[in-house]
Amino acid sequence: MDINIKANKDKCIELLRSTGREGIEYLIIELEKMGFFTAPASAVHHLNCEGGLAQHSLNTYYAALGVWENMKIYCPHIAKEVEPDNIIMAALLHDICKCDVYKRKRESSTRPYNYSKEESRYSAKYDEFPIGHGEKSVILALCSGVVLCDSEMVAIRWHMGPWSVNMENNDEKLSFKAAQDKYALVTILQVADTLAARIMER
Ligand SMILES: [Fe+2]
Ligand SMILES: [Fe+2]
Repeated sequence: MDINIKANKDKCIELLRSTGREGIEYLIIELEKMGFFTAPASAVHHLNCEGGLAQHSLNTYYAALGVWENMKIYCPHIAKEVEPDNIIMAALLHDICKCDVYKRKRESSTRPYNYSKEESRYSAKYDEFPIGHGEKSVILALCSGVVLCDSEMVAIRWHMGPWSVNMENNDEKLSFKAAQDKYALVTILQVADTLAARIMER
């Protein structure tokens, strides 16, 4: 997948500003500082390249929008329950926790290294604010000063779906179930994230 970092950055900022959300300019400044627009989306999996994270976030947004548009045909109440701004905020911010996780490996100046297709240029380190994947995204967004609504926070927190739920922990299991029951955005974001990673970014 060819990535146009500048175009993706402009699109993300345009979408975020379109929400008119309180604190959105603080968030945009913070995303730039965090390296959101140039970070990879993973070390060895989908979009493990410069600008991969913003591309993945946009792909998740497009997938979520597609799911939402089609769901409205069969479940018209979705139009009121989930609004376009909720999709923008949840999709674009769901993985901002990854901004400081993938570090570029040092390339030797004496021994030019050609990375094979399977080998990553990045290694993953989780020691910067290790508080959990979805949780970290929610906290980083809130710390920027932007306002998120409950459905967005809950959807971002649980966007990994059952993969992030400790089934031995009853409290966690019941919270995840309640999140899915209460907010359609939880399932829309989870499905969109999977569609983006597994189909759009193959
Ligand atoms: Fe994620
Ligand atoms: Fe994701």
